Formats: sequence, structure tokens, C-alpha cells
Amino acid sequence: MGCILAIESSCDETAAAVVDAALSVRSSVVASQYELHAEYGGVVPEIASRAHLERVLPVIDRALAEAGVSADEIVAVAAGVRPGLIGSLLVGSSAAKAFAWARGLPFHAVDHVAAHLFAGLLGGVAMPAGRALGLVVSGGHTSLFRVEGPREIALIGRTIDDAVGEALDKSATMLGLPHPGGPNLERAALPGDPSALRFTKPVLPNPLDFSLSGLKTKLLYEVRGVPTGRGERSRFERDHTALSPARRADLAASVQRAAIEQVLDRLSRAYELHAPRALLVGGGVVSNRSVQRELAAWCLERDVALVVPEPAYCVDNAAMIAGYAQLRRAHGDLGDDLSVPAEPVSHLARGSSRTRRSA
Ligand code: KG4
Ligand code: ZN
Repeated sequence: MGCILAIESSCDETAAAVVDAALSVRSSVVASQYELHAEYGGVVPEIASRAHLERVLPVIDRALAEAGVSADEIVAVAAGVRPGLIGSLLVGSSAAKAFAWARGLPFHAVDHVAAHLFAGLLGGVAMPAGRALGLVVSGGHTSLFRVEGPREIALIGRTIDDAVGEALDKSATMLGLPHPGGPNLERAALPGDPSALRFTKPVLPNPLDFSLSGLKTKLLYEVRGVPTGRGERSRFERDHTALSPARRADLAASVQRAAIEQVLDRLSRAYELHAPRALLVGGGVVSNRSVQRELAAWCLERDVALVVPEPAYCVDNAAMIAGYAQLRRAHGDLGDDLSVPAEPVSHLARGSSRTRRSA
């Protein structure tokens, strides 16, 4: 059985999961904090870490109970230790370390982005043979990787400004849609015309890098008009309340389309350079139905095997942390020292095909 208990708390979700050695998810509990951050239109780090503190122990208890596994049957503990909000990471990783220390179990310090990348293998899906590309599109990350194994992950492209999820969340706010932005934008876009507003494509020195900030500015001016005056005197002529429902749907569909087009464009460039046989994808934005459809079509056209997580394992969850730790154990990894710190940034580095120790 060899069950791992994992905890994830990098942003505004307190999550715990139990995953066995065959990568079957025995339980996956996610306590979200949407209602706590809704009035601010985004995640407030201090509120998030305090909420993690209240939720982490009940969430662990529930994950064990739902898995039907006692604490004695857990063989190792894992936690997302980076990247993320430092206060939030500290709560989950400290709880996981305490569990491991008290029971004398190995502790696996997991990189959240690497865990997103391999979430599609949960349930026991086999890693396709041959060269693979990886794509993580979430609220905090938009990155492309060359993937040779769980520890061999080389960054080949990333956003130079906003992540796709972040840009979609901000676009949703501009359109007057409630938090969380991404899923609400997807719903609002359904009746819209994606060709209503055209966006210029960013040209960057590294052709595999992304840029989403221009997309936001274009949408802002479209919704509120070009501002008059400078600095503190700058004023917009209107706000989103002037939008008709049909126009709001058109703009939502157009901005979603532009973001997807950029992702497909970077994938196509990476395909030309690396000739992959497989594509591993993950991150909250991948739970979007249009994104899933377009990725599937892109892969089909090129005969590339697509490894995509179920929607529940695209967004933040602890099963992907446990699953990634299981993959590492299967490759002979015995765990990390309890002194490994929580850190705000990922270690997945450009050009290097090996992650640092404890990725
Ligand atoms: O992976 P995730 O849960 O957290 C991070 O690691 O960032 O991703 C969250 C992001 C948010 O920006 C959220 O708006 C976006 O994923 N997202 C979506 C959808 N569901 C979540 N974006 C577009 N369509 C969705 N259905
Ligand atoms: Zn994430």
C-alpha cells in the first residue's frame, strides 16, 4: 500500500491527501478560502496564513478518515515547500514536518510547480515514452519545461510578467465579475464572440517566454476608455457598469481566446525545437474547458500524447504533492532533511536539466 500523507498550503487552499504507491488517490481534501478573500478581489497573504492555521489539523484528520487509513499506516509525509506565499507555506510544511518527526517518517519537500506537472499521472497513468514537454499554467506560474523524469525538469520558457491565471483573474475583475476570476470568466465567456476584440501578440527576446500584461491594458482601455490626465489626476471615463451583458461576454471570450492562443503559440515553437512525443500539463487554468479542448486538439494534430489531470487535480490540491513524492520514492529518493526551508520561489531553473536537491 505504502501511503503518503501530503499537505499543500502555498496560497489560499488548505489541502491534505493520501496517495498510495500505485498513485491511486485514497483521499483528497481541499478547504478553500474564497469567502475570506472575496471582498478584496484577491488573496490577502496574512489572512491566508491565519486561515491555514485554523484549518490544517482538521483537514489532515479528514484526509486520513476519508482514506480509511490510520496514522500508523502512513509510510512518508510530503509538503509543498515552494514556491508560494511564505506565511502560508510555513503552516503546511511545519505541520507535515511535525507529523514526520513525531512518527520517525521520511519527509519529502516538494516543489509545487513540479507537482502540478506530474498531476496527470495520478490514478496510475503511465508516463508516456520518449521526449516530453511540460506546461504549467496557473495563477502564479506560466512556464514551459523539457521533462526527462521527476527530477530532470529544465525550464525553457516562462512569463516575464503575469501568469495566465493572474491575467484572467484581473481581467475578470475589470469586467465586474466576482472572485475567483478564472472560473467566472470561463462562464461569462460561454455566449461571447472570441473574435470581438483582437490583441497584439507580444514579441519577446526568448520566443518561448510569455507576456500577459499587454492583454490586461488593452482590456482595461476597452472597458473603461483611455484615461485622461497624468499621475494622480488620471481619470477613466467609465467603468464596467457601462458594459452590456453581450459586450461583457464578448470581451470575456476574447481575452480568454488571446491567452489560449499565446499558450498554443509557445507550445508550437517548443514543438519545433524539441520534437516531443508527450506533453504533461497542469495548473488551475488547465481546468478550463476551452483550454482542455484546445490542448487536446493541438496534441492530436501532432501525434503527441497528452497527460492532463482531472479538473480537481489541475487546481491546487495535496494529491499532486503526494503523487510527486511517490514518483520520487519510486526513483530511489529517501526524503529530505527536516531543516529544508519553505521558500517563495521555485528551484526549477532555466537551462539546467536537474532540479536542485529537494525539488
Ligand atoms: O493551480 P492553481 O489552483 O494555483 C496556483 O498555483 O496558482 O491556479 C489558480 C488559477 C487562478 O488564477 C484561477 O483563476 C485559475 O487558476 N483558474 C481558471 C479556471 N479555474 C481556475 N482559469 C480559467 N478557467 C478556469 N476554469
Ligand atoms: Zn498551483
